[in-house]
Amino acid sequence: DAGHYDNGGYEHYLLKEISEQPDTVARTLRGRIDDRFHIAHLGGLNMDARETRSFRRVKIIGCGSAYYSGQMGAQLIEELARIPADAEPASEFRYRSPVVEPDTLYVAISQSGETYDTLAAVQELKRKGGRVLGIVNTVGSAIARETDGGIYLHAGPEVSVASTKAFTSTAVAFALLALHLGRVRDLSPADGRRICEGLRRLPEQIKEILTLEDRIRDLAKKYADSPGMMFVGRVRGYPVAREGAQKLKEISYVHAEAYPASELKHGPLALISPELPTVAIVPDDELLDKNLTTLGEIRARHGRILMVGHRTSEAADDCIVVPKNEVELDPILLTIPLQLFAYHAAVALERDVDRPRNLAKSVTVE
Ligand code: AGP
Repeated sequence: DAGHYDNGGYEHYLLKEISEQPDTVARTLRGRIDDRFHIAHLGGLNMDARETRSFRRVKIIGCGSAYYSGQMGAQLIEELARIPADAEPASEFRYRSPVVEPDTLYVAISQSGETYDTLAAVQELKRKGGRVLGIVNTVGSAIARETDGGIYLHAGPEVSVASTKAFTSTAVAFALLALHLGRVRDLSPADGRRICEGLRRLPEQIKEILTLEDRIRDLAKKYADSPGMMFVGRVRGYPVAREGAQKLKEISYVHAEAYPASELKHGPLALISPELPTVAIVPDDELLDKNLTTLGEIRARHGRILMVGHRTSEAADDCIVVPKNEVELDPILLTIPLQLFAYHAAVALERDVDRPRNLAKSVTVE
């Protein structure tokens, strides 16, 4: 209940929670990075080295934004630990009689720890002998209790219905888990060090992104009157695009679609017109050229483009440039301007930012 918590002088809890992220990310990291061996300390996993090495797959489940953060997590685990990993909505997983394998590590994600679909999926997994970890914000919640161990986010209470700080902290928790799994398998000390140092840079870089708020507010006003928006990203950028679209639709009620940039030409390109602007996630990674080509394709159909990345480009109408981290960790930072964008779009449209229509903070029923 929002009434119990101080809004810290912010007009909305959502803005407070977005602004807290330098601190909440630091709290998720606190005491968990070992700079000597470039490993992560995650005592809550309750798992010895032998078991940690034994998994051949990782399956991540969660709902809504938790699921999108899980998709980011799956990529981190595949990249850093080289274990096949994927994410699926817990609400689907629980109904399709999934094959539960002994050498799969299951990870359930939930800010509240009370989402019924996720809890039911965890219970089904346990019934079938699955090894399930939780990445949860609320200490002592149902999902925290039902899982065999896990990682608490320590992000503090999240009041606004739209998840922001829990999302970034979950992605950070996955980076720690991926580092942990990677360093007892293939990940080199040099790469471990690179990731540890990258993680430590995140809070300051988030602060830098928050200073872009005035500019993002102007952009949100500029784009907020569109009937809809397209969000695109490739590979690491795709979960960022999905979460960006989710934030915008939840709190501004502007229709938003997220697509892998590579899929545009297989259908959604037909939608592109000046009335449907695109938010393009374009990090400086090995897919930069491909992404810039996509911008050209959108441009050729007279689509307006807001690019979010590490540089400006003439192919876009507007650009938001964020600080660069390691490629694996960049998605975490790229998410933050999209939170501010959705927030200011919702404010410009005079929406009930903290309590959007038809939604509950945690869905504890079926
Ligand atoms: C996020 O902005 C949403 N309100 C929603 O998708 C949420 O992430 C989802 O319902 C899962 O909630 P949980 O993390 O508390 O399980």
